[in-house]
Amino acid sequence: MKEQLEEIRRRSLAELADDASEAAIEAVRIRTLGRAGELTEIMRGMRDVPQAERPMLGQLVNQIKREIEARIEELKSRNQQLALDRSLSEAALDVTLPGAKVPRGRIHPVTQILERMLAILVAMGFEVENTQDIEDDFHNFGALNFPPNHPAREMQDTFFVPGAMLLRTHTSNGQIRVMERRRPPLAVVCPGKCYRRDDLSVRASPMFTQIEGFMVDRRGRITMAHLKGLLAEFARAFFGPDTKVRFRASFFPFTEPSAELDIHCLLCAGAGCPVCKQSGWTEVLGCGMIHPNVLRAVKLDPDEYGGFAFGMGVERTGLMALGIDDMRLFFENDLRFLAQFSAISGGTR
Ligand code: DAH
Repeated sequence: MKEQLEEIRRRSLAELADDASEAAIEAVRIRTLGRAGELTEIMRGMRDVPQAERPMLGQLVNQIKREIEARIEELKSRNQQLALDRSLSEAALDVTLPGAKVPRGRIHPVTQILERMLAILVAMGFEVENTQDIEDDFHNFGALNFPPNHPAREMQDTFFVPGAMLLRTHTSNGQIRVMERRRPPLAVVCPGKCYRRDDLSVRASPMFTQIEGFMVDRRGRITMAHLKGLLAEFARAFFGPDTKVRFRASFFPFTEPSAELDIHCLLCAGAGCPVCKQSGWTEVLGCGMIHPNVLRAVKLDPDEYGGFAFGMGVERTGLMALGIDDMRLFFENDLRFLAQFSAISGGTR
């Protein structure tokens, strides 16, 4: 009997090897510990064993039972751990893998340039006021001292809208709109879209952006020298501290005297190129002292009030600052172009 027990122990533990399958473990359990298992049978047959041997054999059976049970427990928890490790490693998230890129939109370069220009002007004390794109003849032309037969008023230059309206050809309407509502002292910039019957080309577009600026106070307080100093400072802030500027006499109906501000061409550094028409200089803006007739049109007495105005094109100035030589790029919506301007630091700075 004892040998038989030792044999059951040896064989069972041998079958419960480290790599035993679930099924093999279960088979050993049923064969030894089950209801009709070998050890169960031996316990049942104990009454036929001589009294004296019973305690020793009973102990041995219990000991073997515990050994087998413990071994089965050990294997089962070991298999569970292995299965857990396996499933964890299969489902694992590899945080070192590169993520899927979510495409991000960007501010259009023209808007970025506009915002930089406005930031400089706002830092100088100007307020920003938006005025309307669809205008009447009075606010776009008449009040700005355009004579009745001025060529800009003709069909081939201006988009007319039914109802005796037109798409503004410049943001100078902002001067009139703001001064009709507010009295001096005023220091205001009016950004916005303008429209002219031009074909899209290297240097022009039928829709473009301008910033109009003006400053009005009691007569004599604001001089041409203020205008010059302000615009030269603006040019240095926008294009870079070493920017060379020059003022050139010009003509606009709504200013007297009138001037244009040129900067040294940034594309060719003054050497002459197609963009500056070989002159080495590029026109950046128009400006001047507000014409008395403009003040009269907004019911300000030119003997009491005076000031200056300026107007600049955002796209053209932006071309300079970015070193780009074709206006059409701004309007073609080619993402390969637009994506290059995630944050324009601007100019030569
Ligand atoms: N309105 C002019 C244009 O469309 C730009 C301009 C020139 C505005 C001189 C001004 C100015 O205020 O004084 O081209």
